[in-house]
Amino acid sequence: MGAHTVGRAHSAASGFDGKWTRDSFAFNNAFYAELIDTSNEWDQIPSPTQSANANSNANGFPQWSNAGGDGGLMMLNADMSLVMAMEHRGSDGRPHIDEATGEVRCRWRDFTLRATEICDAEDSLSIVEEYARDNQGFLEDFAGAWTKVVTLNQRDLHRVDVAAFRDARVDIAVPTPTSSPTVLIRLTEPLNSAEPSALCCAAKRAPNWNGRCWGATSKATCDAVQPPTKRCEWRPSECRATQTCSLRDVDCESNTECCSERCRSDTKQCS
Ligand code: HEM
Repeated sequence: MGAHTVGRAHSAASGFDGKWTRDSFAFNNAFYAELIDTSNEWDQIPSPTQSANANSNANGFPQWSNAGGDGGLMMLNADMSLVMAMEHRGSDGRPHIDEATGEVRCRWRDFTLRATEICDAEDSLSIVEEYARDNQGFLEDFAGAWTKVVTLNQRDLHRVDVAAFRDARVDIAVPTPTSSPTVLIRLTEPLNSAEPSALCCAAKRAPNWNGRCWGATSKATCDAVQPPTKRCEWRPSECRATQTCSLRDVDCESNTECCSERCRSDTKQCS
């Protein structure tokens, strides 16, 4: 959800309207900081009704506004639910959130604008607080998670020339990257050396074990893939930056999808 630090909602698209942060072009932890800034006094308001657009909320599904501030920011229920336990029951015994309408009957802590129940904190609050404190930590975690989202079990990834993706518009200053971009490598191109995140574990002469071996990213975890006999081997000279076949227990349709080269016919999962 931290990606909501950039961009905005459009009334003609989703039916919601507004930005989550002041600078919607800066990718940072501002989304988390705004969420827990009690001076925002987040309050729920109806979103603009766009009944002409099939994708919008014709019934005006509500969004949140920083009513204690200038009202210039917005949050969705999905955003607020990172800090507020909307599913908990209020003093009337009903859940705070009405799932049919999106109406939430409690408010985030320190809400003083009108009498209302204060919601319990959601379990994820501590993570929101950590990211709001630690921008670098958030950026690093996001980069790791996003890389996983776009590469996991994607076969046949190709090396790309990042220059081709630079914004060529003259009115936008394109920053020069300070570090080398992460390059995705196909299985046919081994890395030269073991990198901390590289997959260097391979099966010894046992095709059906390869799936188990490939999940390991360190010698210790490679060695730990065990019975019935030790079949996985740490091979730094064959490290890969990304895995392009499916590991054990991942859904599959054919043998070729699996690192183990075996898609079980009963469970339809890689062995
Ligand atoms: C429960 C999860 C999520 C919900 C309900 C949700 C909902 C929405 C909605 C309603 C919009 C406004 C669309 C519009 O009106 O144009 C939006 C925009 C956006 N979302 Fe999410 N989102 C979720 C998760 C995510 C995740 C996981 C990411 C990325 C990692 C993401 C990235 C974005 C971005 C960048 C925009 C701005 C798009 C723009 O500026 O046009 N969202 N989201």
